[in-house]
Amino acid sequence: MQNSESVVTPWEVRGEIDYDELIRQFGVEPLTEDLIVKLERHAGFRHILLRRGMFFAHREFGDWMKSYENGVKATLYTGRGPSGNTHLGHLIPWIFTKYLQDAFDADLYFQLTDDEKYLFNQDLTTEEIAKYTQENILDIIAVGFKPKKTKIFTNLTNSRPLYNIAVKVAKHVTFSTAKATFGFSDSSNIGMIFFPAMQAAPCFLPQYLEGKDSHVLIPCAIDQDPYWRISRDVAPKLGYRKTAGIFSKFIPGLGAGGKMSASMPETAIFLSDTVEQATKKVKNAFTGGQPTIKEQKEKGGDPDACVVYAYLFSLFDEDDASVAETCRACKSGERMCGTCKNRLAEKVAAFLEEHQEKREKAKDIVEDFMLKE
Ligand code: TYM
Repeated sequence: MQNSESVVTPWEVRGEIDYDELIRQFGVEPLTEDLIVKLERHAGFRHILLRRGMFFAHREFGDWMKSYENGVKATLYTGRGPSGNTHLGHLIPWIFTKYLQDAFDADLYFQLTDDEKYLFNQDLTTEEIAKYTQENILDIIAVGFKPKKTKIFTNLTNSRPLYNIAVKVAKHVTFSTAKATFGFSDSSNIGMIFFPAMQAAPCFLPQYLEGKDSHVLIPCAIDQDPYWRISRDVAPKLGYRKTAGIFSKFIPGLGAGGKMSASMPETAIFLSDTVEQATKKVKNAFTGGQPTIKEQKEKGGDPDACVVYAYLFSLFDEDDASVAETCRACKSGERMCGTCKNRLAEKVAAFLEEHQEKREKAKDIVEDFMLKE
């Protein structure tokens, strides 16, 4: 999607995003209360990412749940492009994927696009990408996926099944469609042009490997949707089911505007950050506060413009009464930004400590999670 203020593509997210407009432009459906109620019934509780509207759109999510109710194997597919350390934004779809895996006892296929990051990035060597791939895998395992039901794979090491599917996908996608969907140009290298077929391939991998029907749901942020448009168009031509999708908004960076992005490390919380580093970033975060304490007391702050509030609201404060009170106290001028920053810093610190402990433990069980072809 592109207009004068914002850009949302798989490689670039910038500007003020109007998510209702994005729903219209991408042709996805809003996630309705009916679907959330149904999901909640399967899961046993309503996840904070649903309660606070982070997951906001879908493609045929209702049909996917119906397939499960009719006895079709529930399967999930998500992924990561290993171009650096994992940050909190990447974790949003993965935390939600775990919720879905638990709710539907689903198999999970997890792709690492080590080829993508080499083809699209001028500066990264294959050795650096291989190192990030191993690091990212530890973060993925630390999320808590079920080892017996999770298959992690990388495009460069598991190319045999993926390439077999990708050539079939690629044969049905013209250069003109790829250009219109992904914005390729004459200066794009030919690897970039083929790559969408590699990201589409896992949509069909469960059926390819297991030879039986399964309905695949893709949880991810909305930037990845262009791939699913291609894979859904191609699916019937290859005799596969179309994938369903469930899409999140972006968690912002800690600066003024824009999603959390590894390209702006001072405004991103990496899962490898020390508590001291993360605390410093939170303390420097952009808030909706007034320039002086006097003005804050007189005029109050603006939670809607505040990234500290956005983090508490979207992910870190589960308690509805507590977030409502934060919002009220900020607007009325009773609460100063330092109080919210301290609160968030504490929550982030607790989260990082727990994650890093699980990450250490993950080192011993990596092999249990890797795809065996
Ligand atoms: P990557 O590594 O850029 O992102 C990994 C996942 O994180 C999501 N994401 C975010 N979500 C919320 N807030 C943010 N600030 C934020 N930044 C990134 C992305 O949407 C993605 O879900 N090409 C892909 C890798 C991939 C993939 C997939 C992703 C391969 N197959 C299937 C999702 C589903 C990539 O580079 O993602």
